Amino acid sequence: QISDVWIRKVFTGRGDVTVEVELTVENPATGEVLTTRAAAPAGASRGLHEVAYFPEGGIDAALAAFEKLVAPEIVGLDVTEPYSVDGKLEEIDDTYRFEKIGGAVAIATSFATAEAGAASLGIPLFAFIGGAYARRLPLPLGNVIGGGKHSRGLGPDIQEFLVVPLSPPDIYTAVYANAEVHKRVLKQILKVDTSFTGGKNDEGAWTPRISSTTALKILKEVARDVGSEVGVEIGLGVDMAASSLWSGEKYIYKNEGVERSPHEQLQFVSRLIEEFDLIYVEDPFHEEDFQSFAELTEKFRDRLIVGDDLFVTNPERIREGGRARAATGVIIKPDQIGTLLRAHQAVQTARHFGMRIIVSHRSGDTEYRTLSHIAVGFGAEIIKTGIMGGERTAKLNELIRIGEYLGKWGAISRLHL
Ligand code: PGA
Ligand code: ZN
Repeated sequence: QISDVWIRKVFTGRGDVTVEVELTVENPATGEVLTTRAAAPAGASRGLHEVAYFPEGGIDAALAAFEKLVAPEIVGLDVTEPYSVDGKLEEIDDTYRFEKIGGAVAIATSFATAEAGAASLGIPLFAFIGGAYARRLPLPLGNVIGGGKHSRGLGPDIQEFLVVPLSPPDIYTAVYANAEVHKRVLKQILKVDTSFTGGKNDEGAWTPRISSTTALKILKEVARDVGSEVGVEIGLGVDMAASSLWSGEKYIYKNEGVERSPHEQLQFVSRLIEEFDLIYVEDPFHEEDFQSFAELTEKFRDRLIVGDDLFVTNPERIREGGRARAATGVIIKPDQIGTLLRAHQAVQTARHFGMRIIVSHRSGDTEYRTLSHIAVGFGAEIIKTGIMGGERTAKLNELIRIGEYLGKWGAISRLHL
């Protein structure tokens, strides 16, 4: 049972303020007391259909809403069943977008109660969420070169250039391969952008002033070299975050000096997929264009065409996308939808339509490791959580620990596309 709750302002890795919720739970039978905490991450290229991050009035209004609306309702609740408090949060704030309490308060509360449930049963969070079948580790997908909004609009126009090991023997090797690609890419960048001083963006990706095709050329070469040394095949991907490029009529590639109509965008993305053998393409079109997503998916059934801003972890939007065959993969960012319960429903809906699951961080993330447990608990094929920087490695290192904990009972996901 929850016996006490706190909320405080803390910071994301980007230095922005967010909320952290702390709970104490007391076992009425034994009198044992435990404390757990969790914080909300924050995005920069936020989808239009995400829940409200803070209520009107910002973080102070969020804190006040927690004290006044949430705290009195959740003290005394039992946490030993998964998602036990999440339904209550929806009762407390009956606006689907959490406009009264804010999505940050909702997700931090949802995470902290899940942590409390796991701790009071004495089991890891991933097992609390996923039960006895949660034994598979996700493949780490991480960005090596960054542009778009995450690089203040100064790098390539595409937001993220990504790598993912496809069939690594274990999680350690997978994380190592990504880190090695990240390091070696710097040397190649310096050859083409001699003014580059080694700047990294919010997610730890390099931010040179190079074009998207140059970025992909470099990445392809380095991924091939590292892959053959480490003995794993490394796949390439992009997150185009195309809603950030969309003007309402065209996709504007400001730094590269190109504008593309939706049809030209489809041709451009298709060309990139073929030329660079991309296995992963996230948000290639803006967040309302299910139709173009479906056309691309139809053309490339064997690749991961993934919706992030398109779906915003919303079960209804995923259902719409599933019916339209708009994607083969879904980004799951629990904070986009406000509770773990809804994120779980989003996963089930995506599975119903045969889509793969990619559990993802935000560009403004925290030192918490919660996300790694969610990825294992939900049985995600992929975790997208960057490669470099403390808030990213916190999650990767936790996966290594989970792998060790599972030992021979565990396995790592494999992508056969
Ligand atoms: P965000 O972007 O966390 O800044 O919204 C990440 C992404 O688009 O995947
Ligand atoms: Zn994205």
